[in-house]
Parts: sequence; C-alpha cells; structure tokens
Amino acid sequence: MKILVTGGLGFIGSHTVVELQNKGYQVVIIDNLSNASLDVLEGVFAITGRVPIFEKLDLKDKSAVQAFFKVHQDIQGIIHFAANKAVGESVVNPLMYYENNINTLVYVLQELTKLKVSNFIFSSSCTVYGQADIMPIAETAPIKPAESPYGNTKQIGEEIIQDTCNINAKLNSIALRYFNPIGAHESAKIGELPIGVPQNLIPYITQTAIGLRDQLSVFGNDYPTIDGTCVRDYIHVVDVAKAHVVALQRLLDHKNQTNFEVFNLGTGTGSTVLEVIKAFEKVSNTKLNYKIVDRRPGDVVSAFADTSKANLELGWKAEHTLEQAMLSSWKWQKVLK
Ligand code: UFG
Repeated sequence: MKILVTGGLGFIGSHTVVELQNKGYQVVIIDNLSNASLDVLEGVFAITGRVPIFEKLDLKDKSAVQAFFKVHQDIQGIIHFAANKAVGESVVNPLMYYENNINTLVYVLQELTKLKVSNFIFSSSCTVYGQADIMPIAETAPIKPAESPYGNTKQIGEEIIQDTCNINAKLNSIALRYFNPIGAHESAKIGELPIGVPQNLIPYITQTAIGLRDQLSVFGNDYPTIDGTCVRDYIHVVDVAKAHVVALQRLLDHKNQTNFEVFNLGTGTGSTVLEVIKAFEKVSNTKLNYKIVDRRPGDVVSAFADTSKANLELGWKAEHTLEQAMLSSWKWQKVLK
C-alpha cells in the first residue's frame, strides 16, 4: 500500500517513514530539502533495510504537485508534515509561513480529493490551545487566538481541512496535535537536525553538553509551577511516529467516527525545564552548564495533554519515559558531534 509522506526527511517525518516501513507500507517521500538532508535516506535505509521512493519537490509549485499526483494515482494515504515550524521566524516572516504552510496544504488537498481514496493525516500542534485554562488539556479545550503566525497556520490548516471534509464525505482526515516531540531513534541513525542555533530546549541542552554551546539559558524561574520553570509534555518522537501509523490505519480500516477527527499526542505528564535538565544529567552522567535568565516572550506557563481520547479511540499510548527520550537525544548528539 502506497503512502505519501510530505516532509518525510524531517525530524518527525523520518521517524514516521521508519515506522511505516516497519509495518510493510510502501513509502513515497516528498521533501524540498529546505530544512532536511538527503543523508536521512541513508539513516532510514540503515534501520529498515528499505529505501523509500524520494522526490525532491517544492509543494509551493502547484504544477509540480499536479504532475506528481498524475504519476502517483495509487496513493492510499498522505501524512502531511511539510511545513515551516519556527515560532520566532514566523513572527519575523509571516508571509513566508502563510505561503509555505497554507498554500501547500491547499494544493495537496486539491489533488488528494481527486483520487479514489482520500485519507489525510495532518501535523497540528498543541499551540492551538494557547495557555489553556484547564490541565491536562483535552481536545475539547477552546482554541485560543494564535500566539504567532506559525500557530495561526496550524489553526487555519485545521479549519481548511474541516471545511473541505464538510463538503467532501470521501475525504477522511485526522489532525494530530503534538505536544513537545523530542528524542531520536534508538539506533542513533536518524534524529533532529536543527539548523543554526537551536530554539528548542532539548537540542540546546545536548549541544551545550557536547561543547557546541557555552551555556543553556533557562527562560524564567518565577512561573507558578513547582520549581518556577515552565511545564511541557515531552514525548518521544518514536511514540509520535507510531501514532501516525495507527491513525492512518484507522482511516484505512474505516474506523473513524467522523471524517475529521482530532487527537492529542502527548504522554499526559508535565515536566519542568529543571526536571528535564535533571533527567538529562542523570542519563548522560554529565553536569549541564545553565543559568536562569528572563522569561522568553510568548511562552505559556504550562501545557500537558489529556491523552485519554488517543488512548481509548486510537488504542495508542506513549511508551517511552522522559529519561529514555533524553538518553536517545544524547546518543544522537554524540553521533552528530
Ligand atoms: N527553554 C529554555 N531555554 C531554551 C529553550 C527553551 O528554557 O534555550 C524552555 C522554554 O522557555 C519552554 C521549554 O523550554 O519553557 C520548551 O521550549 P521549546 O522551545 O523546546 O518548546 P515550546 O514548548 O516553546 O514550543 C513547542 C514547539 C513549537 C510549538 C509550541 C506549542 O517547538 O513548534 O511547542 O506550544 F508551537
């Protein structure tokens, strides 16, 4: 069964390709290599022994998208990761984000809905909840005004899919709202490849520990949490990847209850920044150089998932602990150096 993975050479995309191949799916990857490397294909091959079909294609090129789908009429499902994802960059360059995250989604949906079978999995984010009033956050929590153009593209993306599902009963779609995916494949053949100075906590920690950065800045310790630092739900990327395969299978088996469904992907446990640092120091047996600095604008205090809907309806549960995820990130950093 042929599955298209857009952005399949990226962090979550590549781990999902591995899990799809492990389940016997034939994978076609589209990636424009703007934030990914062709070497990832070798990493995937080293793990699964199979090379996915790869097409370097920019989804902003509408005629190229149309031509691609003419050749691949037999696609049974799409997992759509391709998008820009840096919150700060989106504030500086909103139009790039709207073009790259919204136009491309529209082009893919236009072609997908022409196929006989239209199964679609969308990368969404817990950012759609903003600072939720109730913890843990259930899928029924209100969508808050977006904090950034990036966050807005996820909200608008979900609306575009919902609107299209409303008038097209043949289109079946699931939006997966990720909390904070971290870690790397246990083989350390694939992992996160941040370009430049990492914005996210875990690559910043591992780069500091290996000596690429002098010191981690912890953004604020005066939040109303157990130790004053922000709380997030850090989930191992392999658990996130497996959830995509389960969600896709749900659509292929016609087990979805409506043609647009939403699920949280998290562990259900919140961890503070200092707890993450402690977990890292324990598994790496190193001492991390960090200092407390001012709050980072735009950070929510706390966000962790109510996972009961995904657990019950998808039959999926995150299996890895925070320490396992931190250890896998550290192993990956040591391979990268
Ligand atoms: N943090 C630091 N120092 C750093 C980096 C991060 O203290 O150098 C802290 C942040 O203040 C935050 C926590 O670590 O409390 C996690 O920060 P990340 O940047 O790793 O993750 P965020 O929760 O801010 O962002 C993630 C995704 C976004 C998404 C957002 C939704 O990276 O794509 O969740 O809430 F929009």
